[in-house]
Amino acid sequence: MCGIVGFTSRNRPAIGPLVNGLRRLEYRGYDSAGVALESADGIKVYKQTGKVAELDSLLSRALPEGERGKYTLGIAHTRWATHGLPTVANAHPHIADEGRLALVHNGIIENYAALRAGLEKRGAKFLSQTDTEVVAHLVAAFDKGDFLTAVAEALKRVEGTYGIAAISARHPGEMVVARKGSPLVIGVGEDDIVVASDVSAIVAYTRQVIYLKDGDIARITPKGVDIHTLDNSPVTREVQEVDWDIGAIEKGGYEHFMLKEIFEQPDALANTIRGRLDPAGGTAFLSGLSLSPRELAAVRRVVIVGCGTSLHAGMVGKYLFEKLADIPTAPEQAAEFRYSNPIVGPDDWVMALSQSGETADTLAAVRESIRKGALVSGLCNVVGSTIAREAGRGVYLHAGPEISVASTKAFTAQVTALLMTALKLGRTRRLSFEDGDRLVKEISRLPELVGKVLEGNDAIAKVAEKYAKADDMFFIGRGMLHPVALEGALKIKEVAYVHAEGYQAAELKHGPIALLSEKTPVVALLADIPGKEKTLGNVQECRARLAPVVGVVTEGDEAAAAAVTDALVIPKTCAELSPIVTVVVLQLFAYHVARLRGCEIDQPRNLAKSVTVE
Ligand code: G6P
Repeated sequence: MCGIVGFTSRNRPAIGPLVNGLRRLEYRGYDSAGVALESADGIKVYKQTGKVAELDSLLSRALPEGERGKYTLGIAHTRWATHGLPTVANAHPHIADEGRLALVHNGIIENYAALRAGLEKRGAKFLSQTDTEVVAHLVAAFDKGDFLTAVAEALKRVEGTYGIAAISARHPGEMVVARKGSPLVIGVGEDDIVVASDVSAIVAYTRQVIYLKDGDIARITPKGVDIHTLDNSPVTREVQEVDWDIGAIEKGGYEHFMLKEIFEQPDALANTIRGRLDPAGGTAFLSGLSLSPRELAAVRRVVIVGCGTSLHAGMVGKYLFEKLADIPTAPEQAAEFRYSNPIVGPDDWVMALSQSGETADTLAAVRESIRKGALVSGLCNVVGSTIAREAGRGVYLHAGPEISVASTKAFTAQVTALLMTALKLGRTRRLSFEDGDRLVKEISRLPELVGKVLEGNDAIAKVAEKYAKADDMFFIGRGMLHPVALEGALKIKEVAYVHAEGYQAAELKHGPIALLSEKTPVVALLADIPGKEKTLGNVQECRARLAPVVGVVTEGDEAAAAAVTDALVIPKTCAELSPIVTVVVLQLFAYHVARLRGCEIDQPRNLAKSVTVE
């Protein structure tokens, strides 16, 4: 979703870093972009619909190289439309105070209509349909000489969520930033300070970062960062070092980030697993949970909350927890959970799954669960993210930055982390050492197993070619492969714009089978888990309706391979790992179908990487 960049320097022009920062945030999803630059002559604003490249060419036309040196302070934004169409007028930065003030915002101002009516009565002229513009006018209205105080006073009147950055010609050399509910990180370099919605826009300049907390407001000048609460009490926030570098967020020779991230999975999973298996105890070490065996043994129910791909990983988790730890487990879509007045309490363990750690509904589910006294933990990839911090305990995925909007390596890392958690929980209960030991051995083979699946990339691409023109597809699986079927359907919807539905294999005949014909391929998940034979029966039902069936089958399973139209092979592994090896095939299948259909794979239309609005 919306991305914010701010830059100030003792000696360098801001334009380059601002535009590069926006490029790094493109993956979040957006539909327009803009920049505001400050110089001794005042503030200049440039906005454009479409891609950052178009904004860049607008800037090249408007500001010759020779002129750029005078702008060493600026703010920039990519907008994902919420209030108002993606037009130039609605793009950020928004201005107030007759062009002296410019502001960018990520989040939603819920009381904007009332605020706007009040401001209009007092003569403010609005140029856009956005909720953001009211904040710009409010700040201008409260500016009595101190910029930070003006922004703080404005934000006290605002209901909703925000990450903001503002500059004003009345306060040259200053940028004020603040956050509540939307992420904001400050990178502190030698001569430069970069602010951004996430560290990917910062690491090219510095790896020293400060994660602002909700309610923080900061005054930034080339000399340093001064952080306060909205009530103007100074606060200190630790400077942390980002543990990856720029290479991790570049394509490294791959055509798309999605393909790169699919191929990174053996390494990503090795990182998720590293140091967490305990062969001597047949269990796992998950120190971030900070839970004693006694506390683990006291858990009566697990609730897993998440959205999108993370929800699907949570649905696999249900099977893992129930199978290995005998604990009833309920995966819940985070928005539904938070508004359902959920029945959770001290006996329940609520696990929040989120790659970004910023998804608004998942965060709200965390807060509601904490309020109700449940044990809460996060399962996040982004270190220092809001969910990771607010949950207070959890397991980091260590999968490395995920740039492609369609989540791939985060899913397999989440399932792996859930599997290790289930193993640990199981070993405080009835899971024997022998079973634990078997799993420890199999989990340590995971990077190698996923590597084998990737060797089948060309074969998967060939099958994708056969079906790339289909308008509809079905994905079917049983048990822990059912959520994988949902994930396979989601991937192909997201990146290839093919209508697809995931079903429990047995459910197909209760309605959807009416849609089957030679034009509707069915992808059947046939890894060796209990129920496979029944799914093979469902395959026959599909083929009897002339639907071609692509089967994901275990190597050496001749019967399954013979039952389907096209077989895609996965290596032999235990049931608990089958969701992981199977999903990698589906990720590649979706990727190739999308490529053949000419889709914009890394930034699919209308989608956002990190959904910070409800
Ligand atoms: C968005 C993304 C999905 C992602 C979901 C949850 O919809 O497009 O790929 O699965 O948000 O994101 P999270 O960061 O919480 O895992």
